[in-house]
Amino acid sequence: MVLKYKFVKPYQKILILTGAGISAESGIPTFRDPGGVWEKYDLNEVATPEGFHKNPKLVHEFYNQRRKELLKVRPNPAHLALAELEKGYSGEVLVVTQNVDDLHERAGSKRVIHIHGELLKVRCELCGRVFQETGEVFPHTPCPTCGRPGGLRPHVVWFGETPFHLEEVYEALLQCDLFVAIGTSGTVYPAAGFVEVARRSGAYCVEINLKPAENAPLFHEHRYGPASQVVPEWVREMLEG
Ligand code: APR
Repeated sequence: MVLKYKFVKPYQKILILTGAGISAESGIPTFRDPGGVWEKYDLNEVATPEGFHKNPKLVHEFYNQRRKELLKVRPNPAHLALAELEKGYSGEVLVVTQNVDDLHERAGSKRVIHIHGELLKVRCELCGRVFQETGEVFPHTPCPTCGRPGGLRPHVVWFGETPFHLEEVYEALLQCDLFVAIGTSGTVYPAAGFVEVARRSGAYCVEINLKPAENAPLFHEHRYGPASQVVPEWVREMLEG
């Protein structure tokens, strides 16, 4: 089959996938780099439904700590540049993030989809309500809506669970003419497969990363370096046309 790329500048629809690397320079550790989160914690214990069932106290403590750390950090120039792009670019800009932090929103991005959930949200499995939470949660904290204890869990997607908003994301992947992945290792699916969907539907695909991701060969263009430098440079080029 001969593919016809639809990339003609200016792009009409830009989809930007972000991962832990974009928040690294804000002070939030990534997962798989040396010293990353999964070197310090066993993901089976703190990031699976089974782990939560076995030891909810440990899992709540892990997320309470991460929530506390998130409140101390700020968006870096890469988050700010993406917000500038959304404001200043002639086409549509959508950020799809695997990150559970709120740094894109704090930087000013308006169109952000969190496929792995949000750290500053908690949900009650007894009544289904999702609510904002900046403080600590414990296994017996009562739900602010239904009042029952024992149902609260972090509103994050754990291994073995289905990411959020996938229908909307695949629709956007089929329509985008530029796909950019920033600071993600390309190891966790379905996000690692988004580039393939975008590329097959004719989008030009750019990887921005510290070093080549697992799925790097699927991208047309690569820009390697710290996100706080490379992303603002790329955004400047985009806005200058
Ligand atoms: N600038 C750009 N990229 C960076 C930087 C930086 N300053 N620092 C690290 N990186 C890159 C790394 O080279 C790596 O490719 O960011 C990527 C981080 O990869 P991971 O730690 O695997 O994070 P991510 O891809 O977001 O993980 C996906 O895995 O554990 C789950 O749910 C978690 O959403 C997460 C998912």
